[in-house]
Amino acid sequence: MTIDSVDVAVHTVRLQVDEVIRETADAVTLVFSTPLDYRPGQFLTLEIPSPDGEPAARCYSLSSSPATRERAAISVKRTAGGFASNWICDTAAAGMTLTSLHPAGTFVPTRWDRPLVLVAAGSGITPIMSILKTALTSHGERVVLLYANRSRDSVMFADTLDELLRRFPTRLTVAHWYEAESGLPTDAGLRDLLDTSVENADAYLCGPEPFMEVARRSLVTSGVSQENIHREVFASLTSNPFRAVAPTPTGSGIGTPVEAEVEGETHSFHCPPDTVLLDAMLSEGIDAPFVCREGNCGACAFTLLSGEVHMHVNDTLDDYELKKGVRLACQSVPVSDSLRLEIE
Ligand SMILES: Cc1cc2nc3c(=O)[nH]c(=O)nc-3n(C[C@H](O)[C@H](O)[C@H](O)COP(=O)(O)OP(=O)(O)OC[C@H]3O[C@@H](n4cnc5c(N)ncnc54)[C@H](O)[C@@H]3O)c2cc1C
Ligand code: FES
Repeated sequence: MTIDSVDVAVHTVRLQVDEVIRETADAVTLVFSTPLDYRPGQFLTLEIPSPDGEPAARCYSLSSSPATRERAAISVKRTAGGFASNWICDTAAAGMTLTSLHPAGTFVPTRWDRPLVLVAAGSGITPIMSILKTALTSHGERVVLLYANRSRDSVMFADTLDELLRRFPTRLTVAHWYEAESGLPTDAGLRDLLDTSVENADAYLCGPEPFMEVARRSLVTSGVSQENIHREVFASLTSNPFRAVAPTPTGSGIGTPVEAEVEGETHSFHCPPDTVLLDAMLSEGIDAPFVCREGNCGACAFTLLSGEVHMHVNDTLDDYELKKGVRLACQSVPVSDSLRLEIE
């Protein structure tokens, strides 16, 4: 079967804003009354109305934890000159309804039986908060949070972190870095802040690219294995995943035979030459997930069971995920005679 276009409306959810919490002078949390099924570290993709009629799409990580009883929430920090973040900070109000894609992303711990080192800068704290709260409330390992901000005033979730320190005094360590007092973070500076016994830890990093690189180096010299370091990159989407897409027809039987197991259902089709797997699957009517189609959000991740693909762009998967066979459907073209893959 082939179809001419894909109506992405089936992937959207309407979110009712229940409460807006002012976190700092330039950041807000939007708490939703709509129940959501998500994993710690995942993000929503919101449709942001625009005065010129063409809405923009932006990703925002859930700062709430699915493991606690709290309502689903995102936290947004103003970007200077930015469109969506300023619209949200200025306009969002209780009672408002926003359109979103379902939660997506692979910045999600796959195991909880090791100590965690969480490293965040600025708004990068949002997925880290979700992971932190989940680790502390549902699992038993130690957690070290290293949190960099411009100044003490710009620290989001300061009260929540104080409360967690009171509840988990032996399992949680929080170390702050303030740029206004200590300058830009350095390898040696971050290493000094780290607890000494992090060798066995899994690390999750979120913040600006140069900060994450400094943090990665400090972690590696502190004994954290490179393959246990996971990163989330924040960037604005340049495409609009809310628009219907017109995938390449695949019904001719020409191309690489693919067997795809999607949420337990097996689909067989051919992926035409030079066509990315996401387009081929959408063309077959397969409900394959995607958001950015640019290789930087991880929403379209799948696991290769056999065969090989070439990825045009990969701005999100790390070495650990690649070694496990994870690939991006929006960027992958088959380079073997056949393929078997799985989307969970
Ligand atoms: C997976 C993921 C999760 C994320 N989670 C969060 C989160 O939890 N919280 C959060 O606050 N953010 C998060 N982000 C970032 C967020 O999606 C936006 O990128 C951010 O809010 C900035 O969007 P904006 O529309 O305000 O800025 P944009 O309008 O996209 O502008 C970004 C910057 O580019 C500049 N700019 C814009 N247009 C031009 C132009 N034509 N020429 C030159 N410069 C230009 C702007 O001045 C601004 O400095 C996440 C991103 C991703 C991918
Ligand atoms: S849809 Fe974002 S990486 Fe593929």
